[in-house]
Amino acid sequence: RRLASIRAPLLAWYDRERRDLPWRRTKDPYAIWLSEVMLQQTQVATVIPYWERFLARFPTVEALAAAPLDDVLAGWRGLGYYSRARNLHRAAQEVVARFGGKLPSSAEALLTLPGFGRYTAGAVASIAFGEEAPLVDGNVARVLSRLFEVEGPPGDRAREAHLWGLARALVKGERPGDLNQALMEHGATVCRPESPLCLLCPVRAACLAFQHGRVNELPPAKVR
Ligand code: ADE
Repeated sequence: RRLASIRAPLLAWYDRERRDLPWRRTKDPYAIWLSEVMLQQTQVATVIPYWERFLARFPTVEALAAAPLDDVLAGWRGLGYYSRARNLHRAAQEVVARFGGKLPSSAEALLTLPGFGRYTAGAVASIAFGEEAPLVDGNVARVLSRLFEVEGPPGDRAREAHLWGLARALVKGERPGDLNQALMEHGATVCRPESPLCLLCPVRAACLAFQHGRVNELPPAKVR
């Protein structure tokens, strides 16, 4: 019903409009994991050359696990937020020690590794392994808060719980990884924070904020 009227047009839109990004051409869970870690605090255009260089230097989980930390940090130089690189390195070592060098495929198991929060676990489980695992990042939070008219400021506990519940319901079905990426991409390019492009939006017919003329009120500004 509501969910189906969002899922189908959103996936069709993603099939038409998705950007051709290098990590969307691979099925290697390690390469997808690396992209999600790099994309957490860094823009797509910056990430692309770093991702390619890092993978050339550390092509597998085993290679990364075996490398000295200093080499890994050197490969990360320029990206900042070096705790991401330290956690990546430690997680690679745990994947070798605990999982025979293969990333576990469920969000639940991924969450036990250093550096994996709910977002990264959901992204890798859904994109690399096809698990119906939800994710909410800043873009997805905004999209869902408009589609479902979710009240409350960013950071509010009840709001976050509500958003994760909506994401969990929406991701159930075919192509969970594409559905999650469609939500993120839609938030980045159409359902933007300022001047959202509602006239180009594939899901505006299902959008409560659009129906009620409240797109510019949602999400409300952070309380500070
Ligand atoms: N932001 C972070 N990861 C992404 C992905 N896989 N697709 C679109 N936007 C993203």
